[in-house]
Amino acid sequence: MRCQACHALAYDRVGPRHCGVVGRKAGSVAGFPYSPAMKKANVVWTEKTLDRFLISPLKMVPGTTMTYDGVPDPQDRADLVAYLKQAGKSAECVR
Ligand code: HEC
Repeated sequence: MRCQACHALAYDRVGPRHCGVVGRKAGSVAGFPYSPAMKKANVVWTEKTLDRFLISPLKMVPGTTMTYDGVPDPQDRADLVAYLKQAGKSAECVR
């Protein structure tokens, strides 16, 4: 999956872990070195906000260190968000 260049489910890599991201406040994984922009974003990640973020991370959170162009196709974004939701309930995340 294209996000795995930087993210893993259960541990932090270049980007913070994706387990639990749906429902999490932006910038809230303890110990992950977020950008000031992400810490201040004051967003809770839901299907809606994740969709908006993934259109263009830099537009929604100017200054984010997630240097990723975004996912232009709405169906691709919906699939990604559905995957993140599903993965959050998988054995890798729930132990
Ligand atoms: C080039 C590396 C890279 C890629 C590729 C990438 N990310 Fe990220 N992501 C990051 C970094 C770095 C951060 C932390 C950003 C910050 O602190 O501003 C981040 C943060 C996030 C956050 C906020 C998490 C939180 O805890 O607040 C979400 C959600 C996210 N990424 C989803 C995705 C998804 C979905 C994809 C695939 C479409 C993706 N990322 C691809 C590097 C990446």
